Amino acid sequence: MCKLLPHLIDMKQICFLTAALLCLFLPARAAEPTAISIQTDHTQLVLTVDANGNLRTRHYGARIADPVLFLGMDTQAKRPNGAGPMTLPTTGGVFVGSPALHVRYADGNHNTELYYTGHQSRSKDGVTTTEISLKDPVTTLQVKLVYEAYGREDVILAHTEITNSGKKPVELLDYASSAMHFEADRYLLTHTWGGWASEMQVDRELLGHDTKVIESRRGVQATQRNNPSFLLSLGSAEFSETAGDVVAGALAWSGNFRLTFDRDDAGRLHVLAGISPHAATYPLAPGKTFVTPDMVWTFSGAGAGQASRNLHRWARNYGVYRGGQVHPTLLNSWEGAYFTFTTETLLRMIDDAAGMGLEMFVLDDGWFAKDYPRNGDDAGLGDWEVNTDKLPEGIDYVASYAHDKGLKFGIWIEPEMVNPQSNLAHNHPEWVVKSPGRDIYQERNQWVLDLSNPAVQDFVYGIFDGVMQLSKNIDYVKWDCNRVIQSFGSTYLGHEQDRFFVEYCQGLYNVMRRIRAKYPDVLIQCCSSGGGRVDYGALRYFDEIWTSDNTDGDCRAYIQYATNLIYPPFIMGAHVSAVPNHQSGNVTPLKFRFDMACTGRLGLELQPKNFSARERALAERCIASYYQYRDLVFNGDLYRLSSPYDSDYYALMYVSPDKSRAVVYTYCLRYQNREGSQHGFRLEGLDPERSYRVKELNVDRSCWWGDGKEFSGAFLGTGAFNPDLPQKYSSAVFYLEAK
Ligand code: GLA
Repeated sequence: MCKLLPHLIDMKQICFLTAALLCLFLPARAAEPTAISIQTDHTQLVLTVDANGNLRTRHYGARIADPVLFLGMDTQAKRPNGAGPMTLPTTGGVFVGSPALHVRYADGNHNTELYYTGHQSRSKDGVTTTEISLKDPVTTLQVKLVYEAYGREDVILAHTEITNSGKKPVELLDYASSAMHFEADRYLLTHTWGGWASEMQVDRELLGHDTKVIESRRGVQATQRNNPSFLLSLGSAEFSETAGDVVAGALAWSGNFRLTFDRDDAGRLHVLAGISPHAATYPLAPGKTFVTPDMVWTFSGAGAGQASRNLHRWARNYGVYRGGQVHPTLLNSWEGAYFTFTTETLLRMIDDAAGMGLEMFVLDDGWFAKDYPRNGDDAGLGDWEVNTDKLPEGIDYVASYAHDKGLKFGIWIEPEMVNPQSNLAHNHPEWVVKSPGRDIYQERNQWVLDLSNPAVQDFVYGIFDGVMQLSKNIDYVKWDCNRVIQSFGSTYLGHEQDRFFVEYCQGLYNVMRRIRAKYPDVLIQCCSSGGGRVDYGALRYFDEIWTSDNTDGDCRAYIQYATNLIYPPFIMGAHVSAVPNHQSGNVTPLKFRFDMACTGRLGLELQPKNFSARERALAERCIASYYQYRDLVFNGDLYRLSSPYDSDYYALMYVSPDKSRAVVYTYCLRYQNREGSQHGFRLEGLDPERSYRVKELNVDRSCWWGDGKEFSGAFLGTGAFNPDLPQKYSSAVFYLEAK
């Protein structure tokens, strides 16, 4: 074939081919080689623009001296259009990996090639925003990459704005928020999987050369199965709290998501994070811009512990609604009363809550609907009027009673849902998510309301607003969402069903924005059958999450440990419940349950009148001691001392930012032999020079020989801190105060 070629090609063709080949090597668009540095106090992202206008990612990691040096990398390109990972890989050009952006144009073409057209940055209050503009010279599609660098927190937010500047509509087939590229020998991925009442279970795996995808297609309750977040240990097969390069990422989006980990033939890792494009090819009309959600990135050169602390600090200062504000302890009525209560039941629970030193009473499910009363989970959702058969005096009476007792008052709603047995389902069948001509499948006897529809958004906002009018004494709302979306379909969207999943989530955010505009001070818990909506998108509007319906102290060790890899301890609703545990059937000591719940926002979820006198006294003691260090739960720095996944012990501590105080929690999760029971933990985050007095809380006799004595931070870091925790579920909490 090769031999034949010269005979087959005439001179004209040769000239044409030469010109075509030359074109390949000519700049697609001339640009001044530029290095763009996006940096925080200890981290740096470096992008370079080559002479052709290609934008490439050169470094994300520790701060380096001179980003301009990276421009040299463009000079040894083996390929005509340069080498190295495109910052935003698109379907098109020479790229054949997993794209961050894939567009189908009106003429059916799929190719997008983006070239740099300029960038700018501005700084305000410790946050530097950098916007980089890219354009496809052929299709005129424009893309803006937006990075927000949080200096002190070492966190970088990244999102993409895609503008159709052409004259015809285009379709977005893939539209990730951010792509990040890494060069290391190996990549250890830590992420979470789970299900109802077993959310947030840690999975660790060394990434191979195939593409790894973590995706949610659940529509709502998107995080019950897995979470849009991960940790990546670079160059190591070991997960270390204290050593090595670790990148952490979390997508701020409460709907379908997709994380892609793609290793190329050079061993580089390309991470894409964004909305899942599953059944969501997004139409973009001429002149319209699609803004992706933020991807939250952080880097630590000192192990996973620092990566988590970076995210927590950012969450406290920016990422969570009123982050770091101390929340009240509470008694929740759910597991203590379920659907069966009267006003009298609630008043007595309030008395007990006040008597035990709690600060709020939360009335959970079962208080509403008249025609289809909510006496079980099969009726009433959608009809948000007080069930006066159950509560003839109304909500205000109960809420005011709580306030008179010095407690705040909270109430449960599940506004995105409807039971078929409700007036709402009869009056507005067109508001229900459904596919024409098919069964509307029920989960927990309920259907989902179509939040892509602005009329439904108004209705859902109105539910919150209406409930708030029931009493001026409502301080807290538990917002629930108890199922996934199946067989999706929106009457409102008509032929544009592809927009459904995106518009649903944006509809939720529209509602939450309106709620926050009118009710900035109401505490709102984000519950979704427990941890079904745990993400930094929701946390922009919600104060806290319901971590899991599983309140078994043992199971919670695993769930809470993993939640705190990415999300700060203060957002975790953590409740003490009765035994045998209603979910797991497990029996754990009351002290173990308290010691576990006290690592988050402490609550009780049981019928207090079932406490024995001894249990009640212990409960009061634990609640009182929690107030002594609660500010550390909300504003301290987390140090994980021992992982339940890798050890027979779970141990963690919170240290005040000035290192003057700390609280240390230790739990034995498996029986130890006599010699093994005195496990040494190395306390971290303390000032090695300062002297700390160590006091065990909630016991008459301590399980550590050093109780009540003073030790330097350096000594406490040696492993000499070895409380005796011999039995499964023995636990101890210590309070440390510097002299
Ligand atoms: C969900 C929540 C629970 C409780 C019930 C009420 O399961 O996760 O905490 O509120 O709904 O029906």
